[in-house]
Amino acid sequence: MLKIGLIGAGYMGSMHAACYKALVGEGVMIAAVADIRQEYAVKAAEAFQAKVYGDGMELIADGDVDAIDICLPTYMHAEYAAAAMKKGKAVFVEKPVCMKKEEMDLLLKLEEETKAPVMVGQCIRLWSEYAWLKETVSKNVYGKVCSAVFKRVSPAPTWAWEGWLQKAECSGTVAMDMHIHDVDYVRYLLGDPKKMQASVSRDGTGMIQQIFASYDYGNLPVTIEACWDYPEAFPFEMYYRIKFEEATAVFSSAASPSLVVYPKDGGRIVPELEKEFESENDIGGNVSSLGGYYNELKYFTDRIKASEPLTIATLAESVKSVELVLKEIEEVGGMIVNG
Ligand SMILES: NC(=O)c1ccc[n+]([C@@H]2O[C@H](COP(=O)([O-])OP(=O)(O)OC[C@H]3O[C@@H](n4cnc5c(N)ncnc54)[C@H](O)[C@@H]3O)[C@@H](O)[C@H]2O)c1
Repeated sequence: MLKIGLIGAGYMGSMHAACYKALVGEGVMIAAVADIRQEYAVKAAEAFQAKVYGDGMELIADGDVDAIDICLPTYMHAEYAAAAMKKGKAVFVEKPVCMKKEEMDLLLKLEEETKAPVMVGQCIRLWSEYAWLKETVSKNVYGKVCSAVFKRVSPAPTWAWEGWLQKAECSGTVAMDMHIHDVDYVRYLLGDPKKMQASVSRDGTGMIQQIFASYDYGNLPVTIEACWDYPEAFPFEMYYRIKFEEATAVFSSAASPSLVVYPKDGGRIVPELEKEFESENDIGGNVSSLGGYYNELKYFTDRIKASEPLTIATLAESVKSVELVLKEIEEVGGMIVNG
């Protein structure tokens, strides 16, 4: 059995716990859980009779585990990932991997020194509709990409421990929290843009609540929108629209079917997608299916069990995506601009 130590059992930690439950038949188990809110740790540990810790550092120091999965608030990622790498564990760390230059340098240095396998939770790289798009582009199924639109919009996230998501220095705002998904995916699909432009909408405190980025790939424009302060009843949606030479593909998580291809010469195709793992639990948050979360953790644990390298959502790749978002934030004058 591959033994996992889960640190942080809030929204994403509970989602990961449900994924590990679904992976028991694959030889994976949670052996230890840490959360400073004990009731959350106990709940995630229940199905596995896993050992419960308070602070994540106690688990890293003492836990009898092979891999550490970090689902802590973003501003804590680097410190805990560094400690887990130094302890010689394989590390899965939620996105964004970190937010500061010195943290990126430290983690990359430790990866080199410790050779610890590290994967970052840039989950849409393994989300069915996005995996379909990557393959479709790689195989040139509908010709070259002519333009692309990506979107991720939601009401305000309210579940976070001590409201950390609404503190710019803790979450990096919607830019680093939600927008990073599409930025990372666009880089995965098309590489780094030749030029970039960003604009934002801020709330009364000056904090970014919505961001639009335009990337120029030379006769291939890409726009990316993220917003997390729509009204409470507004449905979460992740979306893309890709114009190829021979067809247009449209994905919306709010539509059924979610993905439709419109060939240039007429008609409509509904691509067959890899079936996603449906959760029996209502974990809350934005997404009910275990979908990409299950896929990424299956990929991570499969690779660790087989002692094979992790090549999707690597630390180096994830750091580059954070750097691009930081450039966007710099271009608009910062995460918070008053007056
Ligand atoms: N991949 C995705 O789609 C996705 C979606 C949501 C969140 N996330 C990421 O997951 C991470 C966690 O977000 P969340 O929404 O689960 O937040 P959350 O607030 O729901 O959970 C964080 C948990 O960490 C615990 N905690 C705080 N300090 C601790 C410590 N020192 N030791 C142990 N536990 C501690 C809190 O008690 C809380 O339960 C963030 O980095 C976020 O960006 C990713």
